[in-house]
Amino acid sequence: MFKHTIVKIPGESYVNGLTTSNLGRPDLAKAMEQHRAYINALEKCGTKVNVLPSNNDFPDSTFVEDTAVLTPHFAVITNPGAHSRNGEIHDIEPVIKSFFETIYHINAPGMLDGGDILQIEDHFYIGVSMRTNLEGAEQLKKILESEGYKASIIHLEKFFHLKTGVAYLGDHTIIVAGEFIDHADFNSYKKIIVPPEEEYAANCIRVNDYVIIPAGSPVTKQKLTEEGYQTIELEMSEFKKLDGGLSCLSLRF
Ligand code: GLY
Repeated sequence: MFKHTIVKIPGESYVNGLTTSNLGRPDLAKAMEQHRAYINALEKCGTKVNVLPSNNDFPDSTFVEDTAVLTPHFAVITNPGAHSRNGEIHDIEPVIKSFFETIYHINAPGMLDGGDILQIEDHFYIGVSMRTNLEGAEQLKKILESEGYKASIIHLEKFFHLKTGVAYLGDHTIIVAGEFIDHADFNSYKKIIVPPEEEYAANCIRVNDYVIIPAGSPVTKQKLTEEGYQTIELEMSEFKKLDGGLSCLSLRF
């Protein structure tokens, strides 16, 4: 059960955030509306949503997931791999300190984005990506193993972040797309496969009794429903434009 979530309101500078997509510039008013719906969904899932104010110095800072890795007993403040995002950790650390006594840090030259970290029960998968380097991944692996968790490092081929292409739904089941469908590290799990035309839906989040999915993913929704999951669909167009997905917009613990 997740009791808490942390989100951060997009600032006016959000429209200038980083992107690798060609989907156009985000519409700020729409992004704010979609963010409000996201908060409402997290509340419907039963979490207490801690809403942080925007910070225009950091256009991408609404994607709070990249700044920390949270477990039930400790937190790790990351060292985000994009230069313009690195300072986001200074806003998040005081909030994390209000919930966690034990806090670790990823230190340079290690770089690590929370979007590259997937927890499946007591096993963490750490993606090495454009944003997370091997040094950062190894630092996190060492921290996790010292706390009794298992950890594996996965080298990404195409996906932006590890969680762009895979999410854990509980019950030993993952939802998976693209390069992770046949990935050896995930072969022991039951898989719900997202078709290529709905690849964006692989970044969904199980929050207590619901799976929150992006709107416009009918095949994925149908598969989840057939497996007995209750879904909440959210419009995500303005976050997709900046490579952001449902997991990126919150920390859940
Ligand atoms: N726009 C989100 C990111 O590049 O991290």
